[in-house]
Amino acid sequence: MDLWRTFFKIAICPYCRKKLIRRTENEISCTNCEKKFPIKNGIPYFSPNTMEFKYPILEEVDRYIATCAFVDEILNQGTSTGLYSTINDLFNYYYIKIMPKRILDAGCGPGRTTRDIALRAPWAQVFGIDISRGMLTRAKEMIIEGKTIELNLISYGWGKKKLKGVKIVNLFLLGGDVERLPFLDNSFDGC
Ligand SMILES: C[S@@+](CC[C@H](N)C(=O)[O-])C[C@H]1O[C@@H](n2cnc3c(N)ncnc32)[C@H](O)[C@@H]1O
Ligand SMILES: [Zn+2]
Repeated sequence: MDLWRTFFKIAICPYCRKKLIRRTENEISCTNCEKKFPIKNGIPYFSPNTMEFKYPILEEVDRYIATCAFVDEILNQGTSTGLYSTINDLFNYYYIKIMPKRILDAGCGPGRTTRDIALRAPWAQVFGIDISRGMLTRAKEMIIEGKTIELNLISYGWGKKKLKGVKIVNLFLLGGDVERLPFLDNSFDGC
C-alpha cells in the first residue's frame, strides 16, 4: 500500500489549509501560501523549526522509552495497564465493528501504540504524528526499519536492555502539532 499517495490525498497546509505539493525529494510546499515543509530521513515535518527539530534530543526520548513507554515488554512490569486497557477497549468494542480504514495516532511518541494498532489492524492505514523529532527518529528505527535498539538502564539497576524492532508496512509517520493537523477534515475513521 502506497502511503505517500494516500498522504497527498488527505494532507493540507496546516496554516492556510490549502493543497500541498512535493516540490523536491526533500521538500513539500503549500500551493497557496508557499510555506515549505522539510522531509528529513523520509519523514515530513510540519512542526515549527525549533532547536529540538534541528538537534533531536535522543537521550530524553530513550529515558521515556526505558521508563514508561516500553517498560512492559522490557521488564514485564505492567505499568501501562491503563493505556493498554484503552487500546484493548478500542479494538474489542469499536474497531472490531467499524474496521476503520484510516487511523491516526495523535502524539505517537516512539511508536509503541502506533505499532500495536498497526499490527492489530493490518487492513488499515495507520498514521502516527508527533511534535518531537527525537520521538519520531526512534519510532522510525524501531517500527519502520525494524531495528533493535539498546537502552541503557544502568541508572535504574537493570543494566543494558535490547528492545527488538519490527518492520511495519501499513504505517506512516509525520512530524506536526496535533492542534494544527495537516489533514483535511474527516480524513480518519479511527483515532
Ligand atoms: C505520553 S507520550 C507518547 C505516548 C505514545 N502513544 C506511547 O505509546 O508511548 C506523548 C507524546 O505526545 C507528543 N506531543 C505532545 N504535545 C503534542 C502536540 N501538540 N502535537 C503532537 N505531539 C505532541 C510528545 O512529543 C510525546 O511523544
Ligand atoms: Zn499554506
